[in-house]
Amino acid sequence: MAGPHGQPIRVGILGAGNICSIYIENLQADPMFDLVGIADMVPERTQSRAEKYGIEGMTPDAMIQRDDLQAVVNLTPPLAHFGTSKALLQAGKSVYCEKPLAFTLAEVQELVALAEASGLRLGGAPDTVLGAGVNTVMDLIQGGHVGTPVGYAAHMLCGGHESWHPDPDFYYQPGGGPLFDMGPYYLTALVHWFGPVASVAASARTVRDHRTIGSGPRAGTVFPVEVMTHIVCTLTHHSGVIGTLTTSFETPSHELPHIEIHGTGGAIRAADPNGFGGPVVARQPGQEWGEMPLGSGPENNMRGLGLRALYEDASSPVGAPRVAHVVEIMAAALESAQQKSVLTLATRPACGWDSTARA
Ligand SMILES: NC(=O)c1ccc[n+]([C@@H]2O[C@H](COP(=O)([O-])OP(=O)(O)OC[C@H]3O[C@@H](n4cnc5c(N)ncnc54)[C@H](O)[C@@H]3O)[C@@H](O)[C@H]2O)c1
Repeated sequence: MAGPHGQPIRVGILGAGNICSIYIENLQADPMFDLVGIADMVPERTQSRAEKYGIEGMTPDAMIQRDDLQAVVNLTPPLAHFGTSKALLQAGKSVYCEKPLAFTLAEVQELVALAEASGLRLGGAPDTVLGAGVNTVMDLIQGGHVGTPVGYAAHMLCGGHESWHPDPDFYYQPGGGPLFDMGPYYLTALVHWFGPVASVAASARTVRDHRTIGSGPRAGTVFPVEVMTHIVCTLTHHSGVIGTLTTSFETPSHELPHIEIHGTGGAIRAADPNGFGGPVVARQPGQEWGEMPLGSGPENNMRGLGLRALYEDASSPVGAPRVAHVVEIMAAALESAQQKSVLTLATRPACGWDSTARA
């Protein structure tokens, strides 16, 4: 797959912050793409990345207006994702966006409508779902290693990103928080394995209303917390699988596995879904945990691979239907916690154990 006349697809990157280097390096190494340039609202950031990687530096407006770019990878902070992605789609560019693409299902659906109207591609992170770690778990589940999958306990537990990120404010603004920030890694994998979620019930709290930046030029700066920072969700999948997902920025110390899957015939401990590789360990009744050989897919940090997947596979787990479903789950979880009620979801992408069971 390539652009018009067999040429590589011409791509821009919007957002020259903390995460952009790995995207630039991986896109420059992929012959499917020609990484043309980068744009950030802070001109010095644009310039330093452009010079370092030998690409064009431009303003965000110039990138949106450039007719010779076919796709843009959106690496702005969450609060900017919807507006910038909408402007890019309206300007005729396909979009691959870091997570979360938007904060509500309605917003994602607006972007999907724009993309469909113009025949553009739309999707987003995490592309770790394409890695060997997630694939290996899928192979084990489909191969009957756990018998009938029954449930899981998933945990994204940490003390918060202000310890290492130089500009961590956005993690504590709407669209941030442990669920919207880290939940996409977990939920994208869980939906990939067990199919779409039918309903969600959640409880949530915030423990501290301010945080302090721990590193970089702004170290010591105190900033407000505007989101729930400890969220416990019960997720009921259409396939019958029922699991729990806890995401927390309040828990710096623990020993719980990232995701432990339980079935009638065994259990699996998946690798960190915020990574492409392993280890994946499994056990069956009466046996010890044993490390499983990794299956197909990359094991190293291939962030950016999702853009290639958008062009190669219309039903990719990084495509808009799955992204929309994950956004709906997260938004519903926060609403459920506020309302103290169980919420039913509207979207139901075909994937995972669900489609196997229905086949
Ligand atoms: N930092 C990580 O390790 C990491 C890992 C995975 C995913 N992500 C995701 O990647 C995205 C970016 O994260 P980051 O850590 O690089 O953030 P960052 O704050 O370091 O960088 C974001 C950049 O976007 C720029 N920006 C903001 N609004 C803009 C706009 N409207 N137009 C153009 N530029 C704009 C900012 O000036 C900044 O340079 C987030 O969605 C985050 O969740 C980050």
